[in-house]
Amino acid sequence: MTHRADRLKTIQPFYVMDVLGRAKAMEAEGKSVIHLEIGEPDFPTPAVVVQAGIHALEQGHTHYTAALGLAALRERIAQQYAKSYRPSASQIVITPGASGALQLVFAALLNAGDKVLMTDPGYPCNRNFVTLYGGAPVAIPVQADTAYQLTADSIKRHWDSDVRAVLLASPSNPTGTVIADDELGRIVETVAGLGGVLIVDEIYHGLIYGGDAGSVLKHSNNVFVVNSFSKYYGMTGWRLGWLVTPSAYLPDIEKLAQNMFIASSTIAQHAALTVFEPEVIQELEQRRDTFRQRRDYLLPALRELGFEIPIKPQGAFYLYADCQAFSKDSFAFVIQLLEQTGVAITPGRDFGVYQSETHVRFSYANTLEHLREAVQRIRHFLQK
Ligand SMILES: Cc1ncc(COP(=O)(O)O)c(C=O)c1O
Repeated sequence: MTHRADRLKTIQPFYVMDVLGRAKAMEAEGKSVIHLEIGEPDFPTPAVVVQAGIHALEQGHTHYTAALGLAALRERIAQQYAKSYRPSASQIVITPGASGALQLVFAALLNAGDKVLMTDPGYPCNRNFVTLYGGAPVAIPVQADTAYQLTADSIKRHWDSDVRAVLLASPSNPTGTVIADDELGRIVETVAGLGGVLIVDEIYHGLIYGGDAGSVLKHSNNVFVVNSFSKYYGMTGWRLGWLVTPSAYLPDIEKLAQNMFIASSTIAQHAALTVFEPEVIQELEQRRDTFRQRRDYLLPALRELGFEIPIKPQGAFYLYADCQAFSKDSFAFVIQLLEQTGVAITPGRDFGVYQSETHVRFSYANTLEHLREAVQRIRHFLQK
């Protein structure tokens, strides 16, 4: 006898796992695959951080920490925000990745049927997290005219009495676009005026190329900010992130964290203490430059091939491209491209339903050499 929760019916798998599965099978047959579907840096964790992790193990740091995390790490994270809007260390909650932070927030905020506004396209887990905690995700179609982001106006238009929260991601996955600072200020005011809660996912904040965007904390200390050691710090597998919590929610978040995770990985927390060392930051900044160079190569190269990418993304490591010049079934296009050329990309349907059949995502978390080779292969494929 198997019992299954109804919520399973509303949770979609990652279609890209299908692509990855086929890619792995091709590799097992000895074929060359260029991975442009992957959502994590190709760089390893900086050596200093790895050594700190090993050291933590050797020192016996293998017990639980406090639910909110190591005090020293919370302090270091608070310190890296600009002085003018720095949160207090007590507002920083260490979590198992941004994923853990997002789940804490939704667990703290949502009653059955409460709506959360977000973008379509957007990071796929968001809608599933909202559903898991009983809420109702409202995915608002966005296009290039608003840099694929929500605006104060679109939030007002979609507001009703069931909306509890608005979730933004800047830079965004899958589009890499950033919300302009003045618009972010308007959004903060609008959501507060409507009596809602604003959650901003700043996981790609370290990866902005030129014109550093400040945190949303610049505009208000009464918002939830999600961040992580995964992307800029190159620590995806360590499963460590953080949440900046409005002080009023701290006791709620703390009791949820105790119950949901007990604590985040102790070893990862000790290792993460070293990411703020100047030599590590220098290495990470070099990596950021490398990502920018890759974007600056891949963006014009894809446009020249006929993919439409209306705005130059300012961050993350993704290009969200309209492929309707070649196909109106982006999933079939992705599979054909993989099978005929060995280039793996992500189909639009992983990020929502709006225009997803005419869009694909390219990740440039791969070397320039591989990006060049991928462009050559795609050119041949499109010429056939
Ligand atoms: C926008 C966004 N938020 C959150 C996450 C989850 O990241 P983490 O590894 O910190 O759990 C990702 C991962 O791809 C992401 O793209």
